[in-house]
Amino acid sequence: MGPVLLAFALAALAWLLVAGSALRERHPVWFWYLTGYPVTTVRVLVTWRRVAQFNGLTVTHKPSRRIVGDLEVRGEPVRPRAPRISFPRATPMGLSLVVRLHPGQTPGPFIAAADALMHAWRVHGVRVTSPERGTVLITATARDPLERPGLASAPAELLCALVGALESGGPWVIDLRQIPHWLITGATQSGKSTLLARLVCQLAPQPVALVGIDCKGGMELGLFGDRLTALTTSRREAVAVLGALVVEIQDRMRACRAAGARSIWELPHTARPMPVVVIVDELAELYLTDGTRQGKAEAEQCSTYLLRLGQLGAALGVHLVVAGQRVGSDLGPGVTALRAQLAGRICHRVNDPGTAEMTLGDLNKDAVAVAQSITSQEKGVAVCTGTEGGWDRARSHLTTTEEARKTASAYAGMTPELPGVNRALKAPAGGDSA
Ligand SMILES: Nc1ncnc2c1ncn2[C@@H]1O[C@H](COP(=O)(O)OP(=O)(O)O)[C@@H](O)[C@H]1O
Ligand SMILES: [Mg+2]
Repeated sequence: MGPVLLAFALAALAWLLVAGSALRERHPVWFWYLTGYPVTTVRVLVTWRRVAQFNGLTVTHKPSRRIVGDLEVRGEPVRPRAPRISFPRATPMGLSLVVRLHPGQTPGPFIAAADALMHAWRVHGVRVTSPERGTVLITATARDPLERPGLASAPAELLCALVGALESGGPWVIDLRQIPHWLITGATQSGKSTLLARLVCQLAPQPVALVGIDCKGGMELGLFGDRLTALTTSRREAVAVLGALVVEIQDRMRACRAAGARSIWELPHTARPMPVVVIVDELAELYLTDGTRQGKAEAEQCSTYLLRLGQLGAALGVHLVVAGQRVGSDLGPGVTALRAQLAGRICHRVNDPGTAEMTLGDLNKDAVAVAQSITSQEKGVAVCTGTEGGWDRARSHLTTTEEARKTASAYAGMTPELPGVNRALKAPAGGDSA
């Protein structure tokens, strides 16, 4: 009987191991809930007092001075009290808990202790925030979810694009209805064009007009030629197309005013013009001048038109997604004003701290520091604006050239006409009269 039982136990153990590794591979979130989360929870609860003590997160209600005989003794009283924590709540690939601060405590020391918590709990990362007065929220992520961003599902709504994964484990969605215009920065080879490609792939099946402005030879957006209503590869063409788009939004404005609507979304379904997404890769190509008078005039026109689209486009269904290596005023005075219109921000790895500051500085100082810590190995990793005014670290899904070309040809039939824009592209000489 003994050997049979032993063989049975061994077989069961082997099955558990195989099933466990399969679960880990295929359903990492379930694997986390079933094994990682309980273990980490025990670790959090067991170590909390000591960790709090070592990191100066405790308080004491005893006085720090005592009279011993004739002596006054000062010192740290024993048995300091750690602040109370809630039971850790499981999140996909992590956990979160709330700390109730004692009177007199501030979130500062907790934020500083994030690294210590990360090591004590043996997790990939810990982030400390204080969404409410008197409490601190600690969120831990078990593994770097951006190593292999999984394909989560996203709402299939108009002008929404699932472009990657957030560090928190959720989908990274660019929602143009919520934030109409976006700025994407990063050094060369940091993943800007890949993100744009992913965005175009996601918008291609939707009833949306896509206009590409890629003045670095059109190599990136050229892949999507079949699905683009217009693609410009030179600044002269860009001026013509942007000018035509400004005329288009003026028409839309008139239509809205006549119907008593404040945006195209208030117009009846049948009368609503199609949303337009203008995608600009390598912004500097539009702004940098070669010193000639014509070049300067073109740059100024581009600047004026882009700004106009940024200011008026949101309500009229014209959206800007602008990618560039630098967005400083060295490109020209118009860039700062344009930047102010692009509320959505995405910052990949940058070479100069200035660019991270310009992209995220008005959002959050921590976000700037996180963006600056992205290494050159982490291609496609970026810090992005979140939905509730916060920020997140995220990684885009890699879109291959083949995939881009296939998507464009699969949805080529959905490419709408924008008569004004198409006319302007055919006769670019009319650009300077606009
Ligand atoms: N999300 C990603 N995951 C993996 N690799 C990526 C990702 N994004 C970009 N890359 C890699 O980085 C390289 C450079 O990306 P690219 O988008 O061309 O950068 P940029 O436009 O900023 O110069 C690409 O060839 C691609 O292989
Ligand atoms: Mg590029």
